[in-house]
Amino acid sequence: MNLPDLKQAQKRTKDEIKIIYDDYSVPEGMKNIGKDKKYFVKTYGCQMNVHDSENICAILEDLGYSETLTMEDADIIILNTCAIRENAHNKLFGFLGRVKHLKDEKPGIICGICGCMAQEESVVETLKEKYKWVDIVFGTHNIHKLPYILESAIKNDKQEIEVYSIEGNIYESIPVKRDSKYKAWVNIMLGCDKFCTYCIVPYTRGKQRSRLPKDIIREVEKLVSDGYLEVTLLGQNVNAYGKDLDIDYTMSNLLSDVARTGIKRIRFVTSHPWDFNDSMIDVIAKYDNIMPYIHLPLQSGSDRILKLMGRRYTKEEYINLFNKIKERIPNVSITTDIIVAFPGETDEDFQDTLDVVDTCKFDSAFTFIYSPRVGTPAAKMENPLTEEEKNNRLYKLNELVNKYANLKNQEYMDKVVPVLIEGPSEKEGFLMGYTDTMKLVNVECSEKYLGKIVNVKITSVKTWSMDAKIVD
Ligand code: 5AD
Ligand code: SF4
Repeated sequence: MNLPDLKQAQKRTKDEIKIIYDDYSVPEGMKNIGKDKKYFVKTYGCQMNVHDSENICAILEDLGYSETLTMEDADIIILNTCAIRENAHNKLFGFLGRVKHLKDEKPGIICGICGCMAQEESVVETLKEKYKWVDIVFGTHNIHKLPYILESAIKNDKQEIEVYSIEGNIYESIPVKRDSKYKAWVNIMLGCDKFCTYCIVPYTRGKQRSRLPKDIIREVEKLVSDGYLEVTLLGQNVNAYGKDLDIDYTMSNLLSDVARTGIKRIRFVTSHPWDFNDSMIDVIAKYDNIMPYIHLPLQSGSDRILKLMGRRYTKEEYINLFNKIKERIPNVSITTDIIVAFPGETDEDFQDTLDVVDTCKFDSAFTFIYSPRVGTPAAKMENPLTEEEKNNRLYKLNELVNKYANLKNQEYMDKVVPVLIEGPSEKEGFLMGYTDTMKLVNVECSEKYLGKIVNVKITSVKTWSMDAKIVD
């Protein structure tokens, strides 16, 4: 395995990618290995990781294990890691400290590390040298092999590391244990070819590879017949869906076909402004079951920084796209991601970012301080800012983002909006759910509304949530 290498990674070709329909199985001796035993899976990171954990849980249940939400009760503990920012490392090694403690008391516990950090060579080296007691390490490309990896670790009674640094295939037969009975994640593409200069994802998740439309539609149709109301189509960069297929079929074709399955609510994340074309906007506007909610990462409002980031759009192009979406999709809400203190970001560059936030008035934004990732081009760039300056920028940006998030929510006061009631709320006597526009709402209602899309009237509003009551 090698360090992330941009030149090497950009040479990859789609010819190496295979779609495999029958590569998941459980070896004979493993079928009941987890009988009367419990598993605990901890997930960090994006929705893609959350969905991978749904696969991991299903595999562990195939082996006979049952789930526990208390780590101390578990016989097997799996940590699904995220590599996007450096603090992920601290989280992993902090967590391993807790597991070691448990293992000292109960040596039979099996500990596994997987996910994006397992794809990083430096992490694997550290696990090999300093954490020999970690039993299994596997990557993002071989989750389906978990029963075999576990089998070797148990048989040989030694650390089993199996991480592929390949471009990645598509495995269609991995089982899934969905967290919700109403909402489902559906991968439409894996990996990413955009190579934004700060980002580790194209290296940890491999080349962009789209699932075939027929496989996606079949999965959504099955969800509809199982009573699911909502799907979120997942990809690092969903607008580029289909570009790697040999057929003339794009994200707008896929959205129309998914809309025609009759599923009540369709969402999709994440969009890159680069591939967001007019036909996408038309399709979202046309179908009532495609939700008026778009997560459209800006990353920076400075043309100079956007160029250094390799984002391939300017501030003006972003704002034009933003305005076009707002004009054509009534009631749409738009959220974003923003990075501050990218190497070389000046006060003027940062002010440009604040200006775009003032122009777009996002419904909400995830904000981050730039974090260098080894092997990415940006990690080699000079970054003279002090920690204090970085924190000040984040603070200032957050103040502005919060102001607009609150103002946007205020517009909902006394309005009647549809909410899919999906689970318990932190507030007693309330259940929670999201509007079509992805606003978190606590609804005063009884359990009979669980799993239903109901019209509610907003009765009070805060920056990150609203309260509501049912209307007939
Ligand atoms: N440092 C800080 N933020 C990052 N992101 C991705 N890579 C980095 C990094 N190296 C942010 C981007 C992306 C979101 C998922 O995480 O804003 O959209
Ligand atoms: Fe990373 Fe997203 Fe850029 Fe891909 S498009 S490299 S996942 S930030």
